[in-house]
Amino acid sequence: MKVSYHGHSIVKVKTNNQVILIDPFITGNELTDLVVADEKPDVILLTHGHNDHVGDTIEIAKASGALVVAPNELAIWLGWQGLTTHGMNIGGAYEFDFGTVKYTKAFHSSSYTTEDEQLIYMGMPAGILLTAEGKTMYHAGDTSLFGDMELIGKRNKIDIAFLPIGDNFTMGLEDAAYAVELLTPKLTVPVHYNTFPAIVTDPEVFKKLVTTHEVEIMKPGDSIEL
Ligand code: NI
Ligand code: MN
Repeated sequence: MKVSYHGHSIVKVKTNNQVILIDPFITGNELTDLVVADEKPDVILLTHGHNDHVGDTIEIAKASGALVVAPNELAIWLGWQGLTTHGMNIGGAYEFDFGTVKYTKAFHSSSYTTEDEQLIYMGMPAGILLTAEGKTMYHAGDTSLFGDMELIGKRNKIDIAFLPIGDNFTMGLEDAAYAVELLTPKLTVPVHYNTFPAIVTDPEVFKKLVTTHEVEIMKPGDSIEL
């Protein structure tokens, strides 16, 4: 499994010759190295309905024919936009040909903001456990710190965890460092920071706060082979 980071919450996973793109917020994301027209994933995984996560999903999926896996209400709505979707919900796992996806709890909100200033309810926000080729990746989505992270850590051997650290909308530095203690991943990568003024923070401080586990600060475009 090859995993790469592309700014904000965008993570790309290459497994079984398939490309899986998570939360492809490219347009309006000044930190990303990705270009919408270049992305031809086989699968798009979404954590929740906020625009900084759904991002360019509709355009990319229409151009590439990618399957979009999302929390159920978001999947239904994206289906209405003409995409091929697979809806899931928290606690449920499904074995796809690219790997097994399990949706986990995230303590956050989930709506999509339309251009005409409507908020569309998109069900529960979630985190994602993706297991493929014997490795497990955890993308926490947007979330606060919550005690059940200990349960997620005990029930899964997480090889790499992507945790939000930007504060304001999600965990900040101290809470995210505590989340690492609960999840006990082999490697943690901080995400969801420095994209907007409200979430400017220093990932080096996060790395210093995590004294018992390994943290790698990935720059947009960096990749890791697990
Ligand atoms: Ni959000
Ligand atoms: Mn977000």
